[in-house]
Amino acid sequence: MIFGAILAGGVGSRMHIADMPKQFLPLGDKPIILHTLEKFLLCSRLDAVYVGVHPKWMLHMQDLIEKHLPDRKADIHLVAGGGDRNDTIFHIVEQIEKDFGEDESHIIVTHDSVRPFVTLRIIEDNIDAALRCGACDTVVGATDTIVVSEDGRLISEIPERGKMYQGQTPQSFRICLLKKLYASLTDEEKAILTDACKICVVRDTPVELVQGEVSNLKITTVSDYKIAQAMVGGTALD
Ligand code: CTP
Repeated sequence: MIFGAILAGGVGSRMHIADMPKQFLPLGDKPIILHTLEKFLLCSRLDAVYVGVHPKWMLHMQDLIEKHLPDRKADIHLVAGGGDRNDTIFHIVEQIEKDFGEDESHIIVTHDSVRPFVTLRIIEDNIDAALRCGACDTVVGATDTIVVSEDGRLISEIPERGKMYQGQTPQSFRICLLKKLYASLTDEEKAILTDACKICVVRDTPVELVQGEVSNLKITTVSDYKIAQAMVGGTALD
């Protein structure tokens, strides 16, 4: 079976313009997270969509689903998010296995709730790549030159731009593979490996690239939010 996993357990500490996590801020006619969720619900290959929500915001999320997606309630499963992004992913995995059992073939398509412009094409390409390879990451080729600095003062390296990509989400995995790799990490590694694909990379497990879109932007800061508002033709909260 194939599951969507929308990660909405964060509090948006880098974007303090309202007393709610950024995924609940308005974007055009509805909250950011509703745009994201609707994209996932468009994908008929997903058997269910899980949303990992910060525990304090569960009721709010339930209300939003009631208001905006009353006919799709049966397809949406809410799960309490965890202390960090990977914890939220594993809370969702645990719930999937409670609901549908453990199975070698289960695939999870994990996605940031704050990337509302993901497309159906990207989600479907993720599913195909995860079925083929076991793990995949959505990326766009770097257009700026990437400069590496070890100390933040002097340049250590300028890698060849043709080999540089920027990571986006979704990131998709065979659930059994992700669980096995995560279980092999030490506590120190778990603390550093905040990117789920990096868990695969440090354990020499292949991760296929899926072509993302520049428009699949992540709303991290107020300027990202303003760009997103411009993309839907509205005005941002200041
Ligand atoms: N996320 C999550 N569970 C956490 C932390 C983050 O599901 N414990 C989610 C966020 O809700 C977001 C995505 O991971 O959709 C990407 O994280 P980021 O942009 O860093 O979100 P926040 O953690 O909310 O922001 P900040 O780092 O500014 O606090």
